[in-house]
Parts: sequence; structure tokens; C-alpha cells
Amino acid sequence: MTDARSIIATIRDGGQPSAGDLRWFASGLASGHVTDAQAGAFAMAVLLKGLGEEGRVALTEGMRDSGKVLSWDLPGPVIDKHSTGGIGDCTSLLLAPALAACGAYVPMISGRGLGHTGGTLDKLEAIPGFRTGLSEDEFRAQTATLRCAIVSASAEIAPADRRLYAIRDVTSTVESIDLITASILSKKLSAGLQALVLDVKTGSGAFMVRMEDSRALARSLVDTANGAGCRTSALITDMSQPLASAAGNALEVIEVMETLTGTSVNPALWDVTVALGGEALALAGLAAGPQEGEEAIAQVLESGQAAEWFGRMVAAQGGPADFTSRWADRLPSAPVVVEVPSPRSGHVSAIDGRGLGHAVVRLGGGRLRDGDRINPAVGLSDLAGIGDDVGQGVPLALVHAATREAADEAVAAVQAAYRLADSPPAEPPLIYERIA
Ligand code: URA
Repeated sequence: MTDARSIIATIRDGGQPSAGDLRWFASGLASGHVTDAQAGAFAMAVLLKGLGEEGRVALTEGMRDSGKVLSWDLPGPVIDKHSTGGIGDCTSLLLAPALAACGAYVPMISGRGLGHTGGTLDKLEAIPGFRTGLSEDEFRAQTATLRCAIVSASAEIAPADRRLYAIRDVTSTVESIDLITASILSKKLSAGLQALVLDVKTGSGAFMVRMEDSRALARSLVDTANGAGCRTSALITDMSQPLASAAGNALEVIEVMETLTGTSVNPALWDVTVALGGEALALAGLAAGPQEGEEAIAQVLESGQAAEWFGRMVAAQGGPADFTSRWADRLPSAPVVVEVPSPRSGHVSAIDGRGLGHAVVRLGGGRLRDGDRINPAVGLSDLAGIGDDVGQGVPLALVHAATREAADEAVAAVQAAYRLADSPPAEPPLIYERIA
């Protein structure tokens, strides 16, 4: 008879559990037959020993089938984008409405902050009233009428991931190609997608810091998703520094709104969003190729159409109806805002993205323990980027904190995360490779 203890022991000892065992484990995560302790031990064993290709596919399929798998009958392609996670990575908030404005249907099942990285759901929940826990009927209806909805994996959709994700977050078991593949694709394949573009991050703020690991993750994701019948490609993009100039939930929503309304545009965030959107439209057949797709995405962002779709989604999911014009008044702000003075003058030569991410978590912008409440207002803004020339005492960033003590701790963490050199460094490329 299958039992969690023997599956964990098989993986711990370097063996390969059968596909049936892994499917049993996935359904046990959803039903509660697998305990939290067993799930944590399983995640650690997989992280240390791996599951092999067949095991990874079996776990992915088992987690997908732990809940409902949606199917759609809509007049346009059902597509999505997903990131492997980073700091200041708020592209999903821009892309979901931009793809909708281009004629796609985007039922986006997203995650919360994981480890040192931020999560799309936590960012959206910084908007007062925004509900990410829609029922399946609400999710379906909103996708059909408003073409985009961003929701959490629920008791109905990929429930095994919902549970394992939260446990991995607090047991230092995120950085596993097998677990990341199963987590991302169980959600994405449950959404009944026709096409998917993946943003696989590489660098100090990513789960995969080294290029070869990011490439292996991209290959695993692309092959597993295509094998399951979903047209998928990946871009490997830079995470050696935050993508946006802010990291923190409400602070990133501010940057999204500035981009959508044209108030202030961060070129790196814009370029990655446009590249991913172009790729998604081409995969979905809504553009002849990525170049044409990129032009379409840029056009809906520039014209304000993407902002309109975003506003409709926010209102439908319980946020303020006037959010796109009154976002600055509607978002929470932190009581303590302090500068992080540069300890010396020089050019920013490297940034420890993980260090910045942990600083945001410790400010209260992420979770240290399962169930911790997030403070949406806290985080970092005005972050200096690689190549910036800063004088001694000039701010590397602003810290937004709940208390003066938390701010002081974050100031030291941000200072420790920045490397300064006398000469300007080579700036990292934004997009490294396409994997199809
Ligand atoms: N995003 C997910 O949904 N899951 C992971 O494991 C990592 C990033």
C-alpha cells in the first residue's frame, strides 16, 4: 500500500518513486492525507535528490489533476504568461490586461510571494478590496466577459500546489527544478490554456542564479508544457537586479499604474513586458510573429487601452471602480520612509537581489512563516540600478517601513546588497535567450 513515509524515504535514498506514487502524493496534498511535516520532508528530499524526468511529469500531472481542469469555449485564444519569480517583477499586472486588449483571453492563476520573491496575488491584494479568491464560476464568468482575471489556485483548481507552495515558502525548499516545474505547470495546465509564455529569471534575485540552471529550468518547463499539449516557449530574462525600480506590494502597483497611465515608464519593465507579450501573441496566433506581437502590446500600453482593461478587472474583483484615476489615493502607504545613503561613491557594479528580497520580507512585505500577514505598504522604492553613478551619501533606495527599527534594519540590508566599483560595469542584457 502506498504511504507518504515510504515515498519520502525512496526519494531521500536516491530512488525513483513510481508515477502512481507521485500522483498519490499529489492527491494526498490536496485531500489532507499527507501532513504538513510529510510535505516539508518530501519537498526537501526532492530538492536534494531530484525526481528525474518521468517523476517530474508525474508530479506535475498529479498536481494538475488534484483539482478541476478547466476547458473553454471562447471566441479567442486562451493564453497566459508566468514568471519563475524575482524582485520587482510586476509584468503580470501589465501583461494580463495588455493581452486582453489584444483579443486574448487570460485566465491567470497566480502565486503569492515565495521565499525572497514577490507574488502577483500579494501585489494585487495591496489594492483595497481586491479579491483573488474567486470561485470557479466567478473566474469563468469574468474571463469570458472581461477577458482577464487574476486569481489564486483555489480548493477547486490545483489545490495540491496551493498547499505545497505555502510549505515550500517556509521550509527553504523552493529552488528545485522539479518542484518549480510542477508548481507552475500544475496551475497553468489546470487553466486549460492553449498557449503559454514563460519568463525564466536568471541572476542574483532569481531562484536559479546561474545561467545553466535557468536554461535547465526553462527546458524542463517548455518540454513538460508542450508535452501536455500547451504551446509554450520561454524567454530567459535578467534578474541580476530588480526589474522595476520598486520592490514591495503597493509600491510595485504604483509602478504598474505609472506605466499603464504613461505617467512614468521604467524602460526595463516595459521592454520585458513587451517581449513576453509579443511572444505570447505569436504563440496564440494573434500575431504573425513576435515582432508584430510586440508592436501590438506596445500600442495597447501606449494608448491607455491596457489601463482600461486593468481598471475593469480591478473593479470586477472588488477593488475601487475609480482605481485607474485615483490609484495614488487608494493604495496604502507606510508611516516611515527613509533614504538608504550610499556608504561610498562609485558605480553600482552588482546587486544581491536575494538580499533585497529578504529585506522586503523582513519589512513585512513577505512571509517568514506560513500564514503570516503581509503589510502591503512596506518595501523599497527608487532603487539604483547596475551602472548608476552614485556619490557618497546619495540614496541607493528609499525604505518604506512600519517602524523606525524595521527601517534601520532594512537600510543596513540594502547597503549590504549593493556593490560599488570605481569604474562602470558592463550592463547585463535584459533578455538572454529564447527556449522553444
Ligand atoms: N512560481 C510558482 O508558481 N511556483 C514556483 O515554484 C516558483 C515560481
